Amino acid sequence: MHKSILIIGACGQIGTELTLALRDKYGKDSVIASDIREGNSELMASGPFELLDATNYEAIEDVVMHYEIDEVYLMAAMLSATAEKFPMRAWNLNMNSLFNVLNLAKEKKISKIFWPSSIAVFGPNTPKINTEQNTIMEPSTVYGISKQSGERWCEYYFKKYGVDVRSVRYPGLISWKTLPGGGTTDYAVEIYHKALSDKKYNCFLKEDTVLPMMFMDDAIRATIDIMDSKPEQIKIRSSYNLAAMSFDPAEIANSIRKHIPEFEISYEPDFRQHIADSWPSSINDADAQKDWGWKPKFDLDKTTKEMLKQLRS
Ligand SMILES: NC(=O)c1ccc[n+]([C@@H]2O[C@H](COP(=O)([O-])OP(=O)(O)OC[C@H]3O[C@@H](n4cnc5c(N)ncnc54)[C@H](O)[C@@H]3O)[C@@H](O)[C@H]2O)c1
Repeated sequence: MHKSILIIGACGQIGTELTLALRDKYGKDSVIASDIREGNSELMASGPFELLDATNYEAIEDVVMHYEIDEVYLMAAMLSATAEKFPMRAWNLNMNSLFNVLNLAKEKKISKIFWPSSIAVFGPNTPKINTEQNTIMEPSTVYGISKQSGERWCEYYFKKYGVDVRSVRYPGLISWKTLPGGGTTDYAVEIYHKALSDKKYNCFLKEDTVLPMMFMDDAIRATIDIMDSKPEQIKIRSSYNLAAMSFDPAEIANSIRKHIPEFEISYEPDFRQHIADSWPSSINDADAQKDWGWKPKFDLDKTTKEMLKQLRS
């Protein structure tokens, strides 16, 4: 059956690769990319694009009606590090964009939603190792508070109005096509760029800060897989824990040294250390594995090999 997809926030780190992957799968004209700014040349050349503000309900509704959209992937948000600087702007963007899309589904104007949550829903009181799906949350960052509230609203709209909304709690994402957009795990992308350009990197987190991470190809596959699953497979309507690997900056530096032996790393923690300290070190994603067959393919060394290969070419 033909379906029409709208991606909001398509020009960011995840949206760029998600748009390209969905266009490969469903055809370029079935996937409408949108953002408040234009994206990179590969994205802009790959199919239809609309300038669209995720906080403007009427504007989204117009695009949905015009293209007869069935599914919306809402990727627009203000990320963790930037949100600490602009708390009210982050809250307004992260919550209003979600309500706009949830309400379009409640009004039966679209039939399915993907909305990403984050490991930032957990907080300093959460058990850090192998963090369970259901545990103490109490997020202590603006971003985490918005994501936890978002999860509660997604589950509410599913239970109360039957809205088919699906979500995963992405860990920090590592990619080479698009630079990250102001998160606490951005170091794990910057480090590869600097390893190639300068052979050294000054890290804004401490060397032993272990965080859950994932290579972008795995994140895109998880996103498409959860959206392709039958509705009855999706037993969690807040958001699924999702995991691939966990490492600290010293370990990623060692992984890079297997390819660039002279690579050096130094440490100068800034305000992002405080955010990282409030998050889990590793995630238990047994529910995603059981309910819709999730399995990661990339570990740290495989990610390093792919990142260096792609950034070199
Ligand atoms: N990248 C990660 O490591 C990570 C981890 C966990 C969760 N997430 C979540 O995944 C989603 C996408 O993250 P990302 O890393 O691609 O973010 P990003 O910052 O790279 O991209 C966000 C995009 O949204 C756009 N945008 C901002 N305000 C907008 C508005 N008002 N209307 C329309 N578009 C707007 C931006 O221009 C940008 O292109 C977010 O919800 C984020 O919280 C990301």
